[in-house]
Amino acid sequence: MRPNAQQPPPLDSSRPSPARMYDFFLGGKDNYEVDRQAGAQVKAALGEVMSHDIVWENRRFLQRAVHFMAEAGIDQFVDLGTGLPTQGNVHEIAQEVHPDARVVYVDNDPIVLAHGRALLATNDTTTVITADVREPGTILEHPDLRNLIDFSRPVAVLSVALFHFIGDAADPAGIVRAFRDRMHPGSHLALSHLTVDGPPADEVAQVVDAYKDATSPIVFRPRDRIEPLFDGFDLVDPGLVRPWQWRPGYGPAGPRTEWLYAGVGRLTSGGVPG
Ligand SMILES: C[S@@+](CC[C@H](N)C(=O)[O-])C[C@H]1O[C@@H](n2cnc3c(N)ncnc32)[C@H](O)[C@@H]1O
Repeated sequence: MRPNAQQPPPLDSSRPSPARMYDFFLGGKDNYEVDRQAGAQVKAALGEVMSHDIVWENRRFLQRAVHFMAEAGIDQFVDLGTGLPTQGNVHEIAQEVHPDARVVYVDNDPIVLAHGRALLATNDTTTVITADVREPGTILEHPDLRNLIDFSRPVAVLSVALFHFIGDAADPAGIVRAFRDRMHPGSHLALSHLTVDGPPADEVAQVVDAYKDATSPIVFRPRDRIEPLFDGFDLVDPGLVRPWQWRPGYGPAGPRTEWLYAGVGRLTSGGVPG
């Protein structure tokens, strides 16, 4: 891991955090009682199996998408909303294809930096930044990102299970646009998002309620508000689909649910060449 002068801001253990709740759902140990209580509320609403399946379906999509993008020639990755380290992190998969692949992890939860320093990043081509995606300019100008990422070449930006923590007031499409405008043709965007199209409405409402006191509340969107996040990108086959439907042969298969949409877009023109 590259030297990183950041001091993580203090952890807020008084409210559930999406990063720690996700860790709880994935079966990790980096969560507090307040996270487990909110997570238990979700499990009570959806059932243990469905809660497990949604997160693993999503995580398997992320892993296959990274593998796909690396095989497409991408060797630099910006992972927005990284979450806590788990098995099969972005740099591990990318570096199987490109041993020198560069990965910048970005999360606004200080626990990700605290644990990422120890676990996520074990080499000179990977770093972790604590920053808020609602301030894309700060991320794009961050010295640690600029040290590793060369925007005059194709890059992959990941926003996997992130934008459902970004309310409309923060303009999710504008955030993607800020990154897209810096991306060279040939760059990719991988994105997944919880949706109202599929799950029972009462269960969606209970999940929203479980996150209402979290550091980021959760917002489910219909497909027609998720697809525009790919504006300017060409969706690669099979398009915007359930995560389990996205190139299942490309890596570990996941459980099958109807709670998310996922896709990968390729930038064929635009951005800032050179
Ligand atoms: C459900 S986890 C997804 C982790 C990983 N991307 C994956 O799909 O396996 C969502 C992550 O987004 C982060 N997050 C939420 N709002 C954010 C924001 N405004 N800026 C940066 N990260 C954010 C949370 O802290 C959490 O770690």
